[in-house]
Formats: sequence, C-alpha cells, structure tokens
Amino acid sequence: MKGIVLSSRPLVEGPNEHVPAGGKYSLMRAKVTVVGAGNVGSVTAQEIAMRDYADVVLVDIVEGMPQGKALDLMQTGPVLGYNSKVTGANSYEETAGSDVVVITSGVARKPGMSRDDLLKTNMGIVKSVTESVVAQSPDAVLIVVSNPLDAMCHVAFDAAGLPKERVIGMAGVLDAARFRTFVAMELGVAMEDVQALVLGGHGDTMVPLPRFTTVGGIPITELMSEDRIAALSERTANGGAEIVSLLKTGSAYYAPGNSAALMVDAIVHDKNRVVPVSTLLEGEYGINGLYVGVPVKLGAGGIKEIIEVKLTDDELAALQKSSQAVKSLVDAMANL
Ligand SMILES: NC(=O)c1ccc[n+]([C@@H]2O[C@H](COP(=O)([O-])OP(=O)(O)OC[C@H]3O[C@@H](n4cnc5c(N)ncnc54)[C@H](O)[C@@H]3O)[C@@H](O)[C@H]2O)c1
Repeated sequence: MKGIVLSSRPLVEGPNEHVPAGGKYSLMRAKVTVVGAGNVGSVTAQEIAMRDYADVVLVDIVEGMPQGKALDLMQTGPVLGYNSKVTGANSYEETAGSDVVVITSGVARKPGMSRDDLLKTNMGIVKSVTESVVAQSPDAVLIVVSNPLDAMCHVAFDAAGLPKERVIGMAGVLDAARFRTFVAMELGVAMEDVQALVLGGHGDTMVPLPRFTTVGGIPITELMSEDRIAALSERTANGGAEIVSLLKTGSAYYAPGNSAALMVDAIVHDKNRVVPVSTLLEGEYGINGLYVGVPVKLGAGGIKEIIEVKLTDDELAALQKSSQAVKSLVDAMANL
C-alpha cells in the first residue's frame, strides 16, 4: 500500500536538521533549547519531549547534570512512546538553529525572599545566557522564565538585539492558571471550564481581573461574592510565595514548566493562542517602554498582536501601579 506523503522531507532526520517554527513542514521536528536544567527547566524539557514534535537541548553550567537528565529523558521515550531527541550540554554549540529558547537559568526564591531579591544574580546570568543563545540561534523566539520576570525580560531584550516580538516572558499563563485553580476549587467545578485573565508584572502587584474570569462562559462576578473574589485574587498574587513557604528549598516548578511548554506549543504549532505574556509595551494601556503582562496573540514568530482590552479606571490604575513596580526594578538595575 502506498503511504500518504506528509512532507517532501524525510521523517527521520539527521542530528542538526529541523524545521523552523510554524514553517512549511509543520509535521517535522522543531528544535527547542531549554537553558537551566534545574526544576523548571527539567519540567519544561520533559513536557516538550513528551509531546514528540521537537528535539530538545538542555543546557546548564553544572557539568554532567544536563547530560544526565537528557539521557534519562531519552530513556523515557520507549516507556511513553515518544521519539524526541534530548541532549544535554554545558556550552551552546549544540543549541545552534533552535526555533525556541526557554531561559530558566538563575537562582530561585527561598522562604523570606521576594522575586526582586534575585535581581543582581539573575541579571548577570540572563545577560550572558541570552548573548550565547542568540549567537547560535539568531532566528529563535526567546521565552524568559527567570525571575524577577519582567526585569529579566528587559535584560534579555537588551542583550539579544532581537525584535520585541521574539523576546517574551512567561508569567501570565502561570498566574492565570493559579487563579483558575482557586476558582475551580472554590466552586467545585472542572478546572478546564474556568478561564481567567491576570495582567501586570509578575509580583504581588499583579492584577487578576474578575470581570474577565469565567466559568463555562459565566463571569465569576455572577457566581461569587466580592469578598471571596478578593480573597482568591490575593491568594493568586501570593501564589508563588505560598509554594515557596511550603517547599522551603526552592519555588514552584510543575505549573511554571508546563506554562512555558504551553507557550512553546503555541509558537511551534502557530496556534495564535490568546494568553497573557510579558511583552514590551509602547503606549498600550498608557504604558511605555516597560515589559508588563498583557493579553497577546501568540503563534509562529512569537507575539503577533498585543490585545488592548478596555479596562475600568480601577483596573487600569492597578495595571499602571504594577508597571511602576517593574519600572523600579529596571531603574535599580541601571545602578547595579
Ligand atoms: N516566571 C515564572 O513564573 C517563574 C516560575 C517559577 C520559577 N521562576 C524562576 O525560574 C528560575 C529557575 O527556577 P528553578 O526552580 O528551575 O531553579 P533551579 O535552581 O532548580 O534551576 C536553575 C538552574 O539554572 C542553572 N544555572 C545557573 N546559572 C547558569 C548559567 N549561567 N547558565 C546555565 N545554567 C545556569 C543552575 O545550575 C540550575 O540548575 C528562577 O529564577 C525562578 O525564580 C519563574
């Protein structure tokens, strides 16, 4: 029987061959690099490998560790039935020609620390990592995960010299997932039926928006008291700290790693997902020159459109206050 021809390129490729994100042959493998093979990076790499559409390169400064995790993930292939090639490296040659690079390198929070306490250490790490990945993969979309998130997006953007559409930050997907979880738990409804929007910087000034948070299409303002909505919004804003205080040795990684993988999916499969992403605003929402989380259309090549929703005066004031928190970190970095 004659097979169906899916592509003009062979399905089994050589080690360095891959297809650009959203390219003509979307049934072929993409190439994704994850820098930082710690908690978040490992989950991100695992999730992408499991989905079987991309080969993954895991990079870390710790010798042997990314190689060991990569081999472990390769050996998961036969168990779960995926064929992604996963390699580990301590340098960047292996990452050449990546379509998407996820930057998770840096230190994570410990109890009593805010994300902002990580500023100085992670600034240096994110700058050097960005320069190294862009030298090998000038066409990649960079997804920054390292904290403090929005400030690290500024560092990566400055170091990368890429268009802003291709230097973006993961936070809103996670923050919205936290809000969705708390709403679903409160109402005893399916997680997948809850949609939420959380804007602003990835810190305790983030702005959960109840008006745009729905259960099966019904705004939660119809289903819950104002007090309960306020309590869940506050728990969302402190969602990261709640996990840090329980773990005691680090910060959350399952939901963050999966949130980064969701963004990789959107880019590689050109899904045009509408999700909150940290992006450089240039006048939208009255904010200029700052990375802040807002809804965007995410697909091949990164951000295709920043979506400006009409906010109430209070919502807009909260978003602008949150952007001021990002600005104070950007200003602080200039003096470090
Ligand atoms: N944006 C978000 O929503 C979000 C969510 C969770 C965590 N984070 C942040 O992500 C980062 C990673 O968190 P984690 O829990 O995986 O931490 P982790 O300590 O488990 O992993 C960080 C890894 O980075 C590596 N690293 C350090 N310097 C490096 C360099 N120069 N090059 C390559 N690798 C380097 C370390 O060796 C380590 O393996 C932290 O900054 C954390 O605050 C962000």
